[in-house]
Amino acid sequence: MFLVTGATGGIGRRVVRLMRERELQVRAFVRLTSRYSELEHRGCDIFIGDLRQEKDIQKACQGVQYIISTHGSDGDAFSLDYRANIELIDSAITEGVKHFVFISVLGADRGYEDAPVFKAKRAVERYLEASGLNYTILRPAGLASNLVPLAEQSRETGFYLLIGDPKNRTSIVSTDDLARIVVDSITVEAARNQIFSVGGPEILLREDIPKIFSGIFNKELVVMNPPLLAVDGLRGVLSLFNPQGQKALGTFRTLLANEFFCTKEEIANLEGIFHLKLEKLENFLRRYLAV
Ligand SMILES: NC(=O)c1ccc[n+]([C@@H]2O[C@H](COP(=O)([O-])OP(=O)(O)OC[C@H]3O[C@@H](n4cnc5c(N)ncnc54)[C@H](OP(=O)(O)O)[C@@H]3O)[C@@H](O)[C@H]2O)c1
Repeated sequence: MFLVTGATGGIGRRVVRLMRERELQVRAFVRLTSRYSELEHRGCDIFIGDLRQEKDIQKACQGVQYIISTHGSDGDAFSLDYRANIELIDSAITEGVKHFVFISVLGADRGYEDAPVFKAKRAVERYLEASGLNYTILRPAGLASNLVPLAEQSRETGFYLLIGDPKNRTSIVSTDDLARIVVDSITVEAARNQIFSVGGPEILLREDIPKIFSGIFNKELVVMNPPLLAVDGLRGVLSLFNPQGQKALGTFRTLLANEFFCTKEEIANLEGIFHLKLEKLENFLRRYLAV
């Protein structure tokens, strides 16, 4: 039995689909408020709980042989990116789990002091490496699936908001490719006890993204490009009445202020180990956008 957290999310949903296509037994950790009917129809064992509750995590892990952690943090990096994963790893040890796959983030090891999600991911990576479990840690760049609603919005409004340096490089990864890498991590021998950076096959500039949208829709977009200072101003205001929100914006700012791309060598290594040809962002978008 495979336990998948974040089973209704961008990555988790695709991971579960693939596993059920391969007729693997999946327990999907969902919240009562999650939209999980698709998972039920696909024959998953639905476990309703909250990853903020240690007891729920312990119960969900009972009798599982594999754990795939793909959940997000809902703005609460400490409880969800950090604590929930530590508790999943502890339960995995208790249950004698055979392999643990953890979705981290590209740049988790760069020591960004102002980014709670990055710090939590790195702390979990370290804990997992020292746990004695078999593991695979995947550090994705931006996910292509996140750009689908953004593209649809741009098509409707004719605008694209690009905050910060348009020349910053990024390697957006197809969320479908990532899901395949997640599932294959369990069986591919060379993926055991490894950390992989995961990106798409092309190193894009951030300004290339609205150009790709324009090409797909055959429509010119107006790109609005406020400086990062705009985010700093917002953080300053938030710090007065919402310190939690102000901290969460630190991760957002880190994402906007830095480059997140994989080298050609990292991509070639990934394609070799997982026997796949990573798809370009435009391919992915054309599949999901009604064009
Ligand atoms: N998005 C990116 O560009 C990116 C880049 C690098 C790494 N990552 C990492 O990839 C992972 C998945 O990202 P994603 O974009 O696929 O996530 P997502 O679509 O935002 O989904 C988040 C998932 O976590 C679940 N979740 C949140 N709080 C929960 C709680 N308290 N209890 C149980 N489940 C909870 C959500 O359930 P509900 O359906 O109930 O909301 C949902 O299934 C995350 O760890 C993220 O840090 C993302």
